[in-house]
Amino acid sequence: MPLCPIRLDGPRPNSDELANDVRLGLGRRPKHLPSKYFYDARGSHLFEQICVQPEYYLTRTELAIMRDYAGAIAAVLGPEVLLLEYGSGTGIKTRLLLEHLQRPAAYMPVELAHDALSASVAHLHAALPELEILPVCADFTQPVSPVQPRGRRRRTVVYFPGSTIGNFDGADGVALLRKMRAEMGPNGGALIGIDLKKDPAVIEAAYNDAAGITAQFTLNLLMRLNRELGADFDLAAFRHRAIYNRIAGCIETHLISVRKQDVHVAGITAHFAAGEAMLVELSCKYALEDFARLAAEAGLRVAQVWTDAERLFCVQYLVRDAGVAQAGAQGCDGAR
Ligand code: TRP
Repeated sequence: MPLCPIRLDGPRPNSDELANDVRLGLGRRPKHLPSKYFYDARGSHLFEQICVQPEYYLTRTELAIMRDYAGAIAAVLGPEVLLLEYGSGTGIKTRLLLEHLQRPAAYMPVELAHDALSASVAHLHAALPELEILPVCADFTQPVSPVQPRGRRRRTVVYFPGSTIGNFDGADGVALLRKMRAEMGPNGGALIGIDLKKDPAVIEAAYNDAAGITAQFTLNLLMRLNRELGADFDLAAFRHRAIYNRIAGCIETHLISVRKQDVHVAGITAHFAAGEAMLVELSCKYALEDFARLAAEAGLRVAQVWTDAERLFCVQYLVRDAGVAQAGAQGCDGAR
C-alpha cells in the first residue's frame, strides 16, 4: 500500500490564533496558557522522554494493559474497523492494537504536531506496509471531514490513549466525547485510555519527575512563545510546579513567577506578582463511576473496561447509549 500524503486541509491554528489564545489566557485569573501548544518539535520530543521516566506510571501501565488485552480488545471492536486516532504519540500502543485488529479498514491519525505525525506514520508504515494510513495534520478538537478508506469499513472506532481526555475538564471533556460520538457513527465506538484516582503522592511524583524533564517540557512552552510571538519570557524567572487538587481530582501544573515581573507578549504587557501561579495544564483523574457519569452526559455508555492489577490506569470501550439517541441528534450525528 503506497503511503498517503499528510492531509493539511484540517483546521490548524496559525500564529494569529496562537497570539489570540495567549492574550485570552493571560487575561484570565488565574492566568492560564492553553496546553495544546506544548507540542512543537522539542515539546513532542520532551514528552516522549516524560513517558519513560520512572515516576511516570501512565504510559508503561497503559502499554502493559494493551499487551495483555490487545487480543480481547480487538475481538470486541470486531473486523474491518476504521481506527481514527486523536493525536499520535510514538505509536507503540496503536501498533499493538492494529496488529490485533482483523482486516482493519484504515488508520487515520489526527495530530497537530507535523513532525511527530510524519515520524509516527513512517514507523507504522514500515511495520504494517499493507495498512492504509490516512494522516491528517489538524487540531483534533475541531471537526475532521470524513475520508472513505479503500477497504471495507464496518465501523469507526475513535482511539484516544494516553489519558489525554483528562486534560479536558468538565464541559470541555463532555464536548470532546460528544464529538467522538458524532464521528464514530451509529454503530461505532471509542477506545479511551484513562488515568484512575490513586494515592496523590504517586500522581504528584509522575508530574514532578526527579530528572526535571517535565519542568523542561512546561518551560518549553514559554520558549515557544518567545520564538513564535517574539515574547520576552525570562525562562530563569519561572519555575515548574504540579500539585494534586483532591477536591477536583486533578493534577494542576503551574509555572510560578519567581519574582515580580512584566512580560511583553502578543502586543500586551502581562504583570506577574512574585510567586504568582500560571496554570498550564490540568490532568483529571477518575474513579470508574466518575468517568461513566461523564460518558453518560455525552450520550455514551461504558461497554467494557480493561485495567491493570494495581488499578492505576484503564482502557475503556464506549459505545452510543441507545437510550439517549435523541440527545445528540441536534449535533452532527450520522455525518459518516
Ligand atoms: N496527557 C498527559 C497527562 O496528562 C500529558 C502530560 C504529562 C503533561 N505530563 C505533563 C502535560 C506535564 C503538561 C505537563 O498525563
